[in-house]
Amino acid sequence: MTIRPVKHIRGMPRGSSRPQLILFSDGRHYIVKFKNNPVQGTRALVNEYVAGRLAQLLGLPVPPFKIVHISKHFFKENPVLFRHRFLPGHQFASEYIPDCLKKIDKESLSGLNIVNRRHLAGIIVFDQWVNNVDRRRGNILLRPLSGNRGFWLYMIDQGHSFSYYDYLSRRRECRWTPAGLRILPQKLKSNAFYRWCKQQSREEDFAYYLDKIQQLSEQQIRQVIASIPKDWNVSRVEREALYKYLIRAKKMLPDLIKPYLRKTDEQAGPEENAHPFLSKRVRVTKTTRQRKAR
Ligand SMILES: Nc1ncnc2c1ncn2[C@@H]1O[C@H](COP(=O)(O)OP(=O)(O)O)[C@@H](O)[C@H]1O
Ligand SMILES: [Mg+2]
Repeated sequence: MTIRPVKHIRGMPRGSSRPQLILFSDGRHYIVKFKNNPVQGTRALVNEYVAGRLAQLLGLPVPPFKIVHISKHFFKENPVLFRHRFLPGHQFASEYIPDCLKKIDKESLSGLNIVNRRHLAGIIVFDQWVNNVDRRRGNILLRPLSGNRGFWLYMIDQGHSFSYYDYLSRRRECRWTPAGLRILPQKLKSNAFYRWCKQQSREEDFAYYLDKIQQLSEQQIRQVIASIPKDWNVSRVEREALYKYLIRAKKMLPDLIKPYLRKTDEQAGPEENAHPFLSKRVRVTKTTRQRKAR
């Protein structure tokens, strides 16, 4: 269903891409990231969209999102959009998740009951695949479930996927180029959020997502890239470079996430019973690896 913007509510207090809260004609609120936003540029929208679509294919918890069209007319009614130097056209809109936990610090995280805890390993494996260099506590949402049943965790802000992290200057660059993609993936930098995810996860959760990514077909990946809006200025050569990156990173992924699989090797239980949802291929790879290790 095509939706149109009805009312600009406000800019979000956080976010270097200056996301805006807007009411749409379906009666829902969305957080909209705009083309040409001054800090991250239109590439952040491309990254959000491609990574978001891939995450959806893997069943990972991204809020529902849409590509929306915002006209010059709406800009004229809301001149703040011009002041941010945004451009009319297609934008990335993520459905607003209300009532999320305001403050997520290390202490509060450790005591929380995360109902979809099994997704946490998936977030690590996925971020490594798409080289998201911006995952941290600020880029998740925790929505409380009714009746004190715990929290549902969402991953937001995929804008720094396919991005490069410069360890010397500590700068992140999300405006990728074909040449830049050739030196990716980088090994994910560990941080407090990832350590927490790892603590909450079982080895088989990592293997499960690794397997799911391996099973995504070339055609599925091509379709996602082909559906990037034309006015987001990704050339044919750039689209091909992004496709090639995803295929190459998929092949390198088992190696890159080895440290996560190794941790609990000794604790693994009987294969068939402990990992009923793993494909045979992953079980065989795992068994071979364990045999080699002995
Ligand atoms: N779908 C959403 N629902 C509720 N709040 C959101 C949603 N997406 C983003 N936000 C809020 O907006 C802030 C900025 O969004 P984010 O995607 O992290 O932008 P940036 O790339 O600029 O950091 C987040 O920290 C969060 O508070
Ligand atoms: Mg952010």
